[in-house]
This record gives sequence, structure tokens and C-alpha cells, in this order.
Amino acid sequence: MAQLIPTAAAMEEFGAQLAQACDSRTIFHLYGDLGVGKTTLVRGFLRALGHKGIVKSPTYTLVEPYQINGQMIYHFDYYRLGDPEELEYLGIRDYLEENSICLIEWPEKGEPLTPAADVQINITHHASARLIEMQGYSAIGQATIKGVQDLSWTFCSAKLPYRVGQPQGIAFLGKSFRGAKTFAEET
Ligand SMILES: Nc1ncnc2c1ncn2[C@@H]1O[C@H](COP(=O)(O)OP(=O)(O)OP(=O)(O)O)[C@@H](O)[C@H]1O
Ligand SMILES: [Mg+2]
Repeated sequence: MAQLIPTAAAMEEFGAQLAQACDSRTIFHLYGDLGVGKTTLVRGFLRALGHKGIVKSPTYTLVEPYQINGQMIYHFDYYRLGDPEELEYLGIRDYLEENSICLIEWPEKGEPLTPAADVQINITHHASARLIEMQGYSAIGQATIKGVQDLSWTFCSAKLPYRVGQPQGIAFLGKSFRGAKTFAEET
């Protein structure tokens, strides 16, 4: 699926939709240039789950762990990895314990040791807007994407001027969206 994100606030809202739609053990790969909005998306994701504090970029720490209502979420940024082998020293496998959610910025810098993605997200610049393209690589990942489509479609249907495509096409996400059922509730 592809979605055009006009503002940073809409990027946070997209992250919130991902959080609503995702399973408790999902690995996200976040691809995109410096400053394209990966951390902004993660900030929306964490806040939607109930994180109240700041969300700092893990550029220097490589990983920031969060525990929210008993759910472990790991936010990685591999940009400064000198060598993928460093992931072994970091004890990367320990972070992949069952039921953790991992959001990984710059996953390409950790290959071939980056854990495989359930959902791959590519973010590209379109002037001040961003285009998000998502692909699912597992049943969990595909269910997450379907959950986001259902959420944004509910939103878009209620706001017809923002609806510019079919569910598989490009949809605008411009305003806050609240109150949708979570994917888990729908299934
Ligand atoms: N449509 C948009 N979507 C997301 N961010 C936007 C948008 N328009 C402007 N911005 C701004 O772009 C910046 C994105 O920064 P962010 O730290 O999220 O990028 P990043 O992809 O994580 O970069 P890095 O690779 O350096 O970690 C923020 O300052 C945000 O406010
Ligand atoms: Mg970042």
C-alpha cells in the first residue's frame, strides 16, 4: 500500500495507526533518507500505545527500549553501526524475544544480521510531503498492513475530499483519526 503524508503531524498519526493495527510481535524495517520522518513515525507509534515521555532518536545508543503496559518495544537506529557484527555484541537476539515489537531505522546498515522484516516501510520525500510505501513479508506483516488500510479507509470514507484513490492506491492522511476499532478487535 502507498500513502501520501502531508505533514509531520500526519506522520505521527500514521505511526499511531500502525500501532493500532500491529500484533504484539512485529518487526518493522524503516527505510528512507536522513530526516525523512522515520523517528517521527516511531514517536506517533509509541505515543499511541501510551508512552508519555520524549522519544529520542537512538542514533548514538543504537537502541531505545520502551515498556508500555507490559509490551516491550525496541526502537533501533543502525545508522552509526560501523560493522553489522556489532549487532552480535549488542546482544541483538535478546531483543527479539517473543512478543517484542521492533522498529528499525537504517536496517540496511545491519545486513545480513538485521532480523527479517514482517513489514517493510519505505519513506520518500515529495516536496514537504512524504510518500510511504509498505510491504508485508509475513502473515503478521500482511495483517498489520490490512489493519492500517481498514483504519485509514474508515477515516478517508468519512472525509471524502481526502480520498483520492482505491485502498491499494494512494490515500491522503491529513487529520487526526480517533476511535477506530483495533485490528485485534476486528478479527
Ligand atoms: N510530511 C512529513 N512527514 C514527516 N516529517 C516531516 C514532514 N514534513 C516535515 N517533517 C519534518 O522532518 C523531520 C523528520 O525528522 P526525523 O528525525 O523523523 O527523520 P528520520 O528519518 O528519523 O532521520 P534520521 O535518518 O536522521 O534518523 C522532522 O523535523 C519533521 O518535523
Ligand atoms: Mg531517525
